[in-house]
Amino acid sequence: MIDTSALRFQIEPMRVTDVDAMMPIEEEAFTAPWSARAYTYELQHNANAYYYVARPVLPAAMNAPLDSIWQRARGIFSRPPAHPAPLVGYAGFWFIVDEAHISTIATHAEWRRRGIGELLLIAMLERALELRAVTMTLEARVSNLGALALYRKYGFEVVGTRTKYYHDNNEDAFIMTTPPIQAAEYRERIGARQMNLRAGLAR
Ligand SMILES: CC(C)(COP(=O)(O)OP(=O)(O)OC[C@H]1O[C@@H](n2cnc3c(N)ncnc32)[C@H](O)[C@@H]1OP(=O)(O)O)[C@@H](O)C(=O)NCCC(=O)NCCS
Repeated sequence: MIDTSALRFQIEPMRVTDVDAMMPIEEEAFTAPWSARAYTYELQHNANAYYYVARPVLPAAMNAPLDSIWQRARGIFSRPPAHPAPLVGYAGFWFIVDEAHISTIATHAEWRRRGIGELLLIAMLERALELRAVTMTLEARVSNLGALALYRKYGFEVVGTRTKYYHDNNEDAFIMTTPPIQAAEYRERIGARQMNLRAGLAR
């Protein structure tokens, strides 16, 4: 059996062909999920949108006995797909003026607390740095303690509240923002987190 706890993950730009595989994750992760059409529109028409997906890096020995995840993935395809590894997470942001605004981030429920959310967040921060964004910002449900903890780990702080922002249950949203991401201090902090994460995922 492959020990999935030892798997590493890679981040790639999202493609339209990824959208169908994202939908079960989206529908589990969010009470008001986006549609496949909304993601497709983002990818095809929103020039200010940057989206990424995470996949496990498959072990070289693909002929080794496969656990149920790989068996399922193989069962779906009659021949090896371009990406044999299932999609385990995705995220995206909009670059507006000088701000990177996270529009979505989700990890498959069976793959959480393994650093995938952090990898996606780092990929977005790196792109935002290249785009010369000044800060990264987002809205999060006030009850979403896991997401809030993830963002706080990367220096996001609550700077405001949007009352009854979520229409499904009238929940408030926290507005969270990073310190200036181009500052050397912040870049060093992210670099250190990235190294810790790599060390952890490689164990
Ligand atoms: C939020 C989410 C994307 C995190 O993804 P993930 O892959 O599990 O995140 P990571 O494993 O990279 O976690 C990184 C850190 O975030 C924090 N964190 C993540 N989930 C947490 C939880 N359930 N409880 C407490 N802290 C949590 C921890 O600090 C964690 O570091 P640690 O594991 O070393 O303690 C995932 O829980 C998810 O998909 N939730 C549903 C969708 C959602 O709410 N998206 C956010 C919308 S604002």
